[in-house]
Amino acid sequence: MFPQHVIARKRDGHALTRDEINAFVRGATDGSWADYQLSALLMAIFLRGMTPEETAHYTDAMMRSGTVADLTAVRGVKVDKHSTGGVGDKVSIPLAPMVVACGVPVPMISGRGLGHSGGTLDKLESIPGFRTDLSLDAYCAQVAKLGCALIGQTKDLAPADKKLYALRDVTATVECIPLICGSILSKKLAEGIDALVLDVKFGRGAFMKTKAEARRLAESLVSVGRAGGKNVRALLTAMEQPLGHAVGNALEVAESIACLRGEGPADLMEVTFALGEQMLVLGGVARTEAEARGKLEGVIASGAALAKFREIVAAQGGEAGAIDDPSRLPQARLQRAIAAAGDGYVQEVDAMGVALAALRLGAGRAKADDRVDPAVGVSALAKIGERVSAGAPLCIVHANDEQALSEVSAMLTRAIVIGEAKVAAPKLIEELIR
Ligand code: URA
Repeated sequence: MFPQHVIARKRDGHALTRDEINAFVRGATDGSWADYQLSALLMAIFLRGMTPEETAHYTDAMMRSGTVADLTAVRGVKVDKHSTGGVGDKVSIPLAPMVVACGVPVPMISGRGLGHSGGTLDKLESIPGFRTDLSLDAYCAQVAKLGCALIGQTKDLAPADKKLYALRDVTATVECIPLICGSILSKKLAEGIDALVLDVKFGRGAFMKTKAEARRLAESLVSVGRAGGKNVRALLTAMEQPLGHAVGNALEVAESIACLRGEGPADLMEVTFALGEQMLVLGGVARTEAEARGKLEGVIASGAALAKFREIVAAQGGEAGAIDDPSRLPQARLQRAIAAAGDGYVQEVDAMGVALAALRLGAGRAKADDRVDPAVGVSALAKIGERVSAGAPLCIVHANDEQALSEVSAMLTRAIVIGEAKVAAPKLIEELIR
């Protein structure tokens, strides 16, 4: 099958056959299609779209482009969670041990931060010694033993996505629902899961800017996941301001530990509980969300969730002592509080503005091969609706370089808007798609 014939069919608006999609994905995996041919088809898909059947075939072909983890030896319904990414979104870190402590195995393969969005792997790697580069065999063995492993994508897992995502990134073809769906789900389905709960975010700090776009993506993810034989649900959640009070790798781990101690910020706990409730229901250990909520609160109160996190950290080479004493996490050299210029209410904490400030400090990466600084970021961030008085701190900047500290101070002063009008905290959880 000639690549140019497949490209021409999509260019002319036809639905591709399963064989054509398989040829495209095989071409990306074994190098038999040139980058310009892959890119041309990606652009044709971007412009012409894909039917639900094409999207399901594409996802299946991408999943099968590499190894599919076999977790059949692990008892129970294996459930993972995936977020489309946001600012301060450290939910996976407290959520996974909470859900495992309730009896549901959580095999979790996460990504790194890129652009404004942070990545669970970078956060976890801020724990001294923590290794996320386990082989697929070690991952399966740890899930069998502890009920959970928190690792990065291995080279054997959905390799076609790695190739195609890199091309999409440089050919303006990222924002395309069928391509996003295939990319996210192929990796998740290759983890060996039975069910998946998605956190599809919308708003300034999210990939999808509007609720309508997020709903379209969520509906597509749920239906393609179902076509792949998995039980999938999605929550639509708002991402106008950062989640919690911390943005930056070690700072977010410290905040995650606070969640596991029962001291997590209200908004972060709201999203964590909502996702956890769905995971417990899909995992078959709770009949209702209310029952699930009781179990999740129980494992925090008893310390079982924190103990599970300590166990996972130790198993992956991390310094478990840092879980009990977060001052052993990397600390930045410089700290500066940003003070409110006047009295009033916090009207806005622009998630994108805070993310760009964290990026400037070195907490994230502009290019895939940039190194992140685990210690830097922003903590004690004020929340929308909070009453503040002149001179009170709106956040604390953690930096390792004077120039970045002064630039970021100005950026954060613009991102956090104070005004006289009373404002309510924004609604966080909008909808469950099932
Ligand atoms: N995240 C992914 O893994 N893939 C996409 O295409 C978009 C977001």
